[in-house]
Amino acid sequence: AAVVEHTFYVGGMGISRLCMNSVIYTVNQQLPGPIIEVSEGDTLVVHVVNASPYPMSLHWHGIFQLQSGWADGANMITQCPIQPSATFTYVFTITGQEGTLWWHAHASMLRATIHGALIIKPRTGRYPFPTPYAEIPILLGEWWNRNVDDVEKDGLLTGLGPAMSDAFTINGLPGDDAPCGGTFEAEVEYGKTYLLRIINAAVNTELFFRVAGHAFTVVAADASYTNPYPTDVIVVAPGQTVDALMAATAAPGRYYMAARAFESKTVANPPPFDLTTATAVLKYKGVPDYAPAAMPALLPYTDVITAARFYWSLTGLLRPGDPVVPKAVDHSMVVAFGLEQAPCAPGQTKCQGFSMVASMNRYSFRFPDKVSLLEALFRGVPNVYSEEFPGWPAAMSPARKATSVRKVKFNDVVEVVLQNEGYSGALGTENHPVHLHGFNFFLLGQGLGRFDPRMASTLNLVNPQVRNTVAVPAGGWAVIRFTANNPGMWFMHCHLDAHLPLGLAMVFEVLNGPAPYLLPPPPVDYPRCH
Ligand code: C2O
Repeated sequence: AAVVEHTFYVGGMGISRLCMNSVIYTVNQQLPGPIIEVSEGDTLVVHVVNASPYPMSLHWHGIFQLQSGWADGANMITQCPIQPSATFTYVFTITGQEGTLWWHAHASMLRATIHGALIIKPRTGRYPFPTPYAEIPILLGEWWNRNVDDVEKDGLLTGLGPAMSDAFTINGLPGDDAPCGGTFEAEVEYGKTYLLRIINAAVNTELFFRVAGHAFTVVAADASYTNPYPTDVIVVAPGQTVDALMAATAAPGRYYMAARAFESKTVANPPPFDLTTATAVLKYKGVPDYAPAAMPALLPYTDVITAARFYWSLTGLLRPGDPVVPKAVDHSMVVAFGLEQAPCAPGQTKCQGFSMVASMNRYSFRFPDKVSLLEALFRGVPNVYSEEFPGWPAAMSPARKATSVRKVKFNDVVEVVLQNEGYSGALGTENHPVHLHGFNFFLLGQGLGRFDPRMASTLNLVNPQVRNTVAVPAGGWAVIRFTANNPGMWFMHCHLDAHLPLGLAMVFEVLNGPAPYLLPPPPVDYPRCH
């Protein structure tokens, strides 16, 4: 195992998109940011220099952080932010996982432009599928013409959340259809097979991904292998990744790839997207650049059927020695969550009548402001959080703001029914990708309507997909199960960035196990809060 070292300068960068010049904040002047490539078992050391005006942290999305919870990078959960002109070094070892993950800023909406791929190769160099000829990372993103921190602040002042993005992007570029476009192009050789590592780094939107004239075989999701799943469309929610093999066996030519918005809430009421679709080009070697490109058929952005078919069809690839679903559950809970309207709050100076509030089990998560939850746990700082995160309330009460965690014992098997709800307990009308930090979970089942305990017999306990982010369908549910084998404070939240400041989050406090399964002390350069 090696030590892989990087230095990340977070700073301003001039850029031109959609015919406008602006300054955005990136890592090392790159959009998307640098690709980190490691092998399973390696130790990653990333020196972060914050040369931006924003206090921020970097999160290694999907990394277990076994006994390195201080490096998880969740702002105010596992650390105070790295202040402007301060530095912090993240150090962690990557054990027992391989595939495509990513890293992103975990403060305000900065992750719109501060993100990149984190690729973990198998130690042996061998995949459980035919070795691809080459690999193509595909980062799907969202672009705002305005400064994204201002967009978020404005959304809090109106109480309605941030304005919609101005475009979607593939590897940082919106494509040929956008004004002053800019198009990512990948060159392939006829007859070869490629591994696409697709990451949804978009801030608030699930996406359909297609390549004209080509089909895929999905082989992994969220850095967990799946049984090969053939499909001509990939559906990916913010936070999720999909690894797919694609054979370049179409007639040599130029083909568009398209990433298109999927928004379930729009079934009745489509949003006024300016640019619903980003394009990139797949070009066969030897084909001239002026050859016209074929466009894939675009799905309606309310196509919940196609999304459900993709999300629900994947199964986990079980190899000898892989973890199996634990049969006995120690800690079982229902987490019902969603958005609702609330009165304008003082300080919401642009609020017109009502404001949006999100909650889980009627608790709207409030970030602590003086010390991170992990430091409060480690040092026993009082009055930072309570341990009374509730169960599913029988009666509806107004959402209350609180910093409360659910305490679980080391190695407890935790099962959570994630129930998508809306205003006043009606079923929700919007998908929410729920992401758990620090663990992968078995995704035992998903469905529409309200979860009924009698459906327990339909859950897949044999080969469920293993994920870190599940797109809980609008007005539906998902059941997840994980083993709490890592002491610390682990965030679980909606990966639509718009919903995080509204409170769509909770935290698991996992107690120390027997030595050596203890939370170690914080690193020496651990950021202080101001
Ligand atoms: Cu990728 Cu807490 O997020």
